[in-house]
Amino acid sequence: MLSSRRNEGRCEMADPWLRTAIAGGGFILVFASGFWLAHIGGPYGIGPVAVHKLLSAGILILLAVGAHTANKTIGLTALAWAAVVGAVAAFVVMIGTGAALTAMNPIPAAVLTAHKTAPYITVLFTLAALAALPHGSTPP
Ligand code: HEM
Repeated sequence: MLSSRRNEGRCEMADPWLRTAIAGGGFILVFASGFWLAHIGGPYGIGPVAVHKLLSAGILILLAVGAHTANKTIGLTALAWAAVVGAVAAFVVMIGTGAALTAMNPIPAAVLTAHKTAPYITVLFTLAALAALPHGSTPP
């Protein structure tokens, strides 16, 4: 349920909690598809990998748009900036190691270990960043 409200002539998502909830749901699907990929094992099918990476890209876009919009309209606190930068860095690790997993054979153990541990950090930073985006329309 995407509610919207008028803000300076633009329609935007009303509640940052909604973005946080959508991202949380998205992460559940990313984890489910990730465990599915690990269960199938390599060489990975194009379909399952596409589902997994498109879902993760969707969450990154949700974060980027949310942070950009909040920064332009209200401004981000130092804490929100720190969480956003941490989340984007975690995504870079996930996308880099994910691409290596699908391209390399044999897969280096360090790449696999990184892709199995970094998701938890990614979830923490992303949900913290989305929750830390300013709520309402007044500057923090
Ligand atoms: C935020 C982004 C991502 C998250 C949170 C994530 C999360 C996960 C998780 C939780 C697993 C299961 C690991 C395990 O068995 O413990 C997994 C596996 C996997 N992911 Fe991702 N992933 C992300 C992005 C990507 C991307 C962009 C790609 C490809 C381009 C990718 C490719 C894979 C592959 C191939 C596996 C199977 C690894 C194996 O055989 O164990 N992931 N991912």
